[in-house]
Amino acid sequence: MFYPDEIVEEVRARNDIVDVVSGYVKLQKKGGNHWACCPFHNEDTPSFAVSGSKQMFHCFGCGVSGNVYTFVMKYENFTFPEAIKLLAERAGVKLPEMEYTEEQKQKANHRTRLMEVNKEAATFFYYQLRSPKGTVGYEYLKKRQLSDETMKKFGLGYSGKSGRDLVAYLRQKGFEDKLICDAGLAVVSERSGLVSQFWNRVMFPIQDINGKVIGFGGRVMGDGEPKYLNSPETDVFDKRRNLFGLNFARTARTGNIILCEGYMDVIAMHQAGFTQAVASLGTAFTVEQAKLLRRYTDNVLLAYDSDGAGVKAALRGIGILRDAGLTGKVIDMKPYKDPDEFMKALGKDAFQERIDRAENSFFFEVRILQGQFNMNDPEEKTKFHREIAKKLCQFSEEVERDNYLQAVAEKYFIGVENLRKLVLTYAVQTGDARPMERPKSGIQRKNTAEENAKKAQRLLLTWITDEPALFAKIKKFVTADDFTDEIYRIVAEKLFRDMEAGIYNPASIISTFEDEETQRAAAEVFHTTLPKLDSRQEREKALHDILLAVKKNSYEAVSARLGSDVSALTQAIEGKKALEELAKTHISLADVK
Ligand code: UTP
Ligand code: MN
Repeated sequence: MFYPDEIVEEVRARNDIVDVVSGYVKLQKKGGNHWACCPFHNEDTPSFAVSGSKQMFHCFGCGVSGNVYTFVMKYENFTFPEAIKLLAERAGVKLPEMEYTEEQKQKANHRTRLMEVNKEAATFFYYQLRSPKGTVGYEYLKKRQLSDETMKKFGLGYSGKSGRDLVAYLRQKGFEDKLICDAGLAVVSERSGLVSQFWNRVMFPIQDINGKVIGFGGRVMGDGEPKYLNSPETDVFDKRRNLFGLNFARTARTGNIILCEGYMDVIAMHQAGFTQAVASLGTAFTVEQAKLLRRYTDNVLLAYDSDGAGVKAALRGIGILRDAGLTGKVIDMKPYKDPDEFMKALGKDAFQERIDRAENSFFFEVRILQGQFNMNDPEEKTKFHREIAKKLCQFSEEVERDNYLQAVAEKYFIGVENLRKLVLTYAVQTGDARPMERPKSGIQRKNTAEENAKKAQRLLLTWITDEPALFAKIKKFVTADDFTDEIYRIVAEKLFRDMEAGIYNPASIISTFEDEETQRAAAEVFHTTLPKLDSRQEREKALHDILLAVKKNSYEAVSARLGSDVSALTQAIEGKKALEELAKTHISLADVK
């Protein structure tokens, strides 16, 4: 953690979650909770609950959870240090200065300077475009139908015809030559000394998610090579980990992100109101970019060029998205080349229709595949069907696979049973009978023993936080070590330690985890939906079953380690005893609410 725990906790405690959240969404009190439509997914009926007593939020629809830090991080797309800064300011808490090593300071300093010089360069280009010298650039952008407002929003500019003006300007602002070169803004030429890298181009500043300028793309006006000249990679410009337009798209809240190929596409889309459009930076879409997108959406629509290269890039993109656990769909741009041209020709309503009709990535792949076979030749046709069968084997979940199987069979007039047999043969032949596990995909839910065990652990923790009086009754049966999931164990340790000391403060536990994903997993622990039970007998039975399940799983986990771990044997013997005793014990809830 960057800040001492006490500060983190003080800032959290001084920011009531109900207050903070109501600054962003309209909450309505009902029962013990405050409710709203979830700001993190699209819904019509409120399933987003904020609990004043737990100081946590939870959405029963999409599963997001956390404390006031998690909320601010998610809503503002902030890192933890950014969130604590905002909340400290809000509550009037002074944060201590952070301490860095000399090396860290220098590195941070260099990065800061790089962003500063980029920002000054962007300012220079911006004013050039709006000066008499920049008329060519301005006219060019006008011809491409960009409004003044759009040019301003994206900070578009023009690099003049002189290679020296930029350098002179930056020097006069106090930037040393080395920094100007490090930023990729100028190069040393033997004849003329330091000269601008960009010359007579319209300039597209590239911003990181916080809106800081990290590099530039410069386009020639008309024909010429290269069409776009991009800043080289620098300490702040990592082309694999940034996306053009994401600084705007991250707050678009449209439930999807549209991935385009080019800068102009993104700009045209934003101008038409599709502020969720982004593009990669002159290189192919990367795994890192997919992971970045996953922070904001599960649903990515590809708006790639309709030509051969675009289709190839889309096929590649689909694979990357799938591996990152994201759903990909493909927007059909035909008969136009790219979103920019489409928008000019048909406008935004027509584009919205294309979004609504975007093709599922599997069908897109199959359709492209079909183009490679001659459907009039039975042999080729069989090959095509085999390829489909092979593709279907990619779905690890049977229901999902079968749904796709039926749909694709219907679409391509293949007998369902025949295709099913083909899939089976293929799976057996290639040893793919048990297809590989796919990474988390949001849709599929595993129902393995491990999931069940985790569920019991979650239920128990939620129950204890909902009814703290329970703790005294069960503490002699369970310890934190019985929680086999790493995160749950840490949560249980802290929760039990607090409760032993008479403290009830579940929300503080969340902020001891560093990243948002872990915070979310930890917070989920407190928000499992408990079974609705009316009679005391039912409640006692349910509690007993949950305890037994947790204990049994813990005993099994220890037994599995026997042989590899000496202490496991003692633990196993003790665990077995505890389990047997628990099985015989009746825990009365007569005096618990
Ligand atoms: P395109 O050639 O499709 O250009 O390249 P575009 O975006 O449609 O631009 P306009 O409409 O012709 O002005 C797509 C993207 O590939 C990168 C750029 O990021 C561009 O936006 N690219 C292309 C380069 O980096 N360098 C190039 O020379 C060409
Ligand atoms: Mn274009």
